[in-house]
Amino acid sequence: MLGRLNHVAIVVPDLAAATALYRDTMGATVSEAVDQPAHGVTTVFIELPNTKIELLHPLGENSPVAAFLAKNPSGGMHHVCYEVEDIDAAVAQVTAGGMRVLGDGKPRIGAHGKPVVFLHPKDACGTLVELEQV
Ligand code: CO
Repeated sequence: MLGRLNHVAIVVPDLAAATALYRDTMGATVSEAVDQPAHGVTTVFIELPNTKIELLHPLGENSPVAAFLAKNPSGGMHHVCYEVEDIDAAVAQVTAGGMRVLGDGKPRIGAHGKPVVFLHPKDACGTLVELEQV
């Protein structure tokens, strides 16, 4: 069921500083910062040869990453995203295995315009897992 690692998401307190760190100090290719009001985040993508790093910074009042940043003021790893071919089949498989899907359990359109779900970290080795249909 699981395909490629699509991205690892890192929440950062200072998006410009984090972007400069990856671009200038570590020599990576970075995207422009994009506000995603529907998701309550501003994102920057770091392009790596085999995957991406997604830098996340809270946007707006009800950002889903604001509490994470409050608990982790210097930032930290937020989630990993695995690709799946069929999100509905993937949800059926993981829920049959006892994993919980966050929210109403239905896929929604994620920050990359593709259907995604998030799995409860307590059911996934303490790590927030995003499944994205590609
Ligand atoms: Co993600």
